[in-house]
Amino acid sequence: MSAEIKSRRHSVRTIAERKGKDPIVVLTAYTAPMARLLDPHVDCLMVGDSLGMVVYGMDSTLGVTLEMMIAHGKAVAGASQSALVVVDMPFGSYQESPQQAFHSAARILAETGAQAVKLEGGAIMAPTIAFLVERGVPVMGHVGLMPQSVNGLGGFRAQGRTQAEETRILADAVAVADAGAFSLVVEGTFEAVARQVTERVAIPTIGIGASPACDGQVLVTEDMLGLSGGTLPKFVKRFADLNVAVEAAVKSYATDVRARTFPGPEQCYGWGKTS
Ligand code: KIV
Repeated sequence: MSAEIKSRRHSVRTIAERKGKDPIVVLTAYTAPMARLLDPHVDCLMVGDSLGMVVYGMDSTLGVTLEMMIAHGKAVAGASQSALVVVDMPFGSYQESPQQAFHSAARILAETGAQAVKLEGGAIMAPTIAFLVERGVPVMGHVGLMPQSVNGLGGFRAQGRTQAEETRILADAVAVADAGAFSLVVEGTFEAVARQVTERVAIPTIGIGASPACDGQVLVTEDMLGLSGGTLPKFVKRFADLNVAVEAAVKSYATDVRARTFPGPEQCYGWGKTS
């Protein structure tokens, strides 16, 4: 068959080609309705394992399973048309061996319809990234603050405070890029570190708490919409306060139900008819 397959979606190639050009816009999405709303406005939808904390109320991302990522990835890929969909590989699904990583990544791509996977880790994960890329799995890397290593890092704190940390982040970024990743999330680090990483690697960097020096930005959608509870990290800007709107709507629903003014005639079948 020689029919040319034209996709309206961003591809890993079109995203990689944006290095040093106009900023790449990325947001997380975990559900079909949110994917539908975000898709026309972003270049990439990231089905992050942050869903463990945002959707399931976990304390960290460590309890997220491959099955959860596949279910949410399928919802997002199915509801979007133009954004590149990248699904996070959850903790424990890729660290054991390149073979384990391939098995998990193959399930994610085959069962969700997403175009790429993301995994956390620098130099230590480079052989795994090369193994996946050589076998046709596009990989987005993730260095700096890596939430799956929260126990080893001693909490969700910005990385790159010391010269040693800075050198490690740079070496990690270069190793991930050399291994064939098509882009790289840089999380929770200082502007000077993000700038050096972005200058040193030939692939686009996507920052989260990593300054505008990066080639693109990502935020957790619920955080930027004001839908998350609790204290937000310093790097989050609230572009809306939807908690307030949701609360007001729910209060008014409860008032109407209690007053028997909802449902009204417009919401009823055969209002006023006697049978
Ligand atoms: O899990 C996640 O949502 C992420 C992005 C925010 C970078 O890793």
